[in-house]
Amino acid sequence: MPEHDSGALLAAIGAGVQACTRCDLYRHATQAVFGEGPVDARLMLVGECPGDQEDLQGRVFVGPAGRVLDRALADAGIDRARTWISNAVKHFKFEPRGRRRLHVKPDAGEITACRWWIDQEVRLVRPAMVVAMGATAARSLFGRVMTIGRERGRLLELPHGGNAWVTVHPSYVLRIEDGARAEEEYARFVDDLRQAAGHATETVSRPSGRLL
Ligand code: URA
Repeated sequence: MPEHDSGALLAAIGAGVQACTRCDLYRHATQAVFGEGPVDARLMLVGECPGDQEDLQGRVFVGPAGRVLDRALADAGIDRARTWISNAVKHFKFEPRGRRRLHVKPDAGEITACRWWIDQEVRLVRPAMVVAMGATAARSLFGRVMTIGRERGRLLELPHGGNAWVTVHPSYVLRIEDGARAEEEYARFVDDLRQAAGHATETVSRPSGRLL
């Protein structure tokens, strides 16, 4: 499919997701948050679902987890602007706690209901590598429960074909209280991103030193 067609289709699907009622999460969320990036991205990153900030701003990974992701992408030599970034579930799931909205993990039914959207993104962007960040993304992309510790660190194939890599969610790194362990896990996360990006391009290093 020509790139301009994919771009137009993605834009239409991204607008259409605002009307999604496939599960009940739309009832309390501010808006649906669709993926973003260039339609010719070679690398796609998939997270869980929008958080509080993403729900308000309508953009993926712009809150605290996004700041960890941005730092990790920079350390891995990956340009966020050249990457398609999305989530397995498009609406924020939360529990009100006073004036705060606490993130709640989407359940199996919500992940399944939302798979249609991420499948369209993978189909239209056709990235050389899809990275599932965390168990929710892995479950959505592979259609089964995946244990991150067992699956990470090696090249995998998606059920409909295409390269995939599994790693932790950036929030996982953010939640580790012990400083030394957090640094260690952060370094592993960066290494996963670097390896995944390395598979997404024949050019391991661009003149700029960036992978992508
Ligand atoms: N966590 C996610 O999984 N996705 C976001 O967009 C933000 C936080």
